[in-house]
Amino acid sequence: MSTFPELRLRRLRRTPGMRKLFRETELNAGDFIYPLFVVDGDGAAQPIPSMPGEVRHTLASLVEEIDDIVRLGIGAVILFGIPAAKDEQGLSGLDPDGIVPRAVSLIKRQVPQLTVITDVCLCEYTSHGHCGVVTNGEVDNDATLPLLGRMAVVHAKAGADIVAPSDMMDGRVGAIRQALDAANYKHIPIMAYSAKYASAFYGPFREAACSAPGFGDRRGYQMDPANALEAMREISADLDEGADAVMVKPALAYLDIVRQAKDGFDCPVVAYNVSGEYSMVKAMAERGWGEEKRLALEILTSIKRAGADVIITYHAKDAARWISEGDR
Ligand code: PBG
Repeated sequence: MSTFPELRLRRLRRTPGMRKLFRETELNAGDFIYPLFVVDGDGAAQPIPSMPGEVRHTLASLVEEIDDIVRLGIGAVILFGIPAAKDEQGLSGLDPDGIVPRAVSLIKRQVPQLTVITDVCLCEYTSHGHCGVVTNGEVDNDATLPLLGRMAVVHAKAGADIVAPSDMMDGRVGAIRQALDAANYKHIPIMAYSAKYASAFYGPFREAACSAPGFGDRRGYQMDPANALEAMREISADLDEGADAVMVKPALAYLDIVRQAKDGFDCPVVAYNVSGEYSMVKAMAERGWGEEKRLALEILTSIKRAGADVIITYHAKDAARWISEGDR
């Protein structure tokens, strides 16, 4: 005869050993992608005020960083370029001697086995800061596609292992696939930012990458945060056009979308734990309102529990360290 309450779920929570044994979700450093900002110029890395602990790397400062990343067992890096010059069409993004191609080849020479992903988008290179070419005050979808295709080929030539278009133009995955295939890069995968929302959480990144739009906003091409069905259409369109992995971005405010993507499609799902999610944790910790390690690991665990196979996160290095210390 058992006594009330019959169900005692607390039994398995009693000791750290049992909690670890029955934990359903485990983070691995190998599932993290660490974002790197690379700036054209010499000298030391520049701290990014809106993202404490993160920097804009020069090619010189990148070398030591890469050694750290490899030592920590992080799965991959994703590169964002900050060019010396910007113009209306973002042409510096197509330069084979531009900052991203140079950074890619430097990293691949240093550590050939480290997976290098490049962000393919015009916003870091355009003077107006939009993700596409602007014609008569509007972001021109079809005029942007060939430029994205060319950028992807330039990155592949430099040695990028994966290209990741983040522009949200219609048809860009297909255009990039065609451009890569035509240039004999049939083996280079596309990790598409498929469900990318017009989010207020990108603020710190735009300061870091100097890529805030000079006029208007991105709501004419990035998704409305209110929409979920549309995210599934974006994902299936990208897969039809040849995407190899799909992404949901941001992550924390979109965990339902991550779960729907994982349940709805049989492809790898990547979630981008974006700059604002990182800086929010930093700000809380700075004010003594929370413990950085616990906040960050809780967020990353939630993203994985929601269904993400891979997580892009500015906390990758810290989290890798915390996980290896086995201290949760
Ligand atoms: C470029 C791009 C952005 C981010 C990644 N790629 C900025 C944007 O769309 O404004 C944001 C990443 C972050 O906030 O961490 N299109």
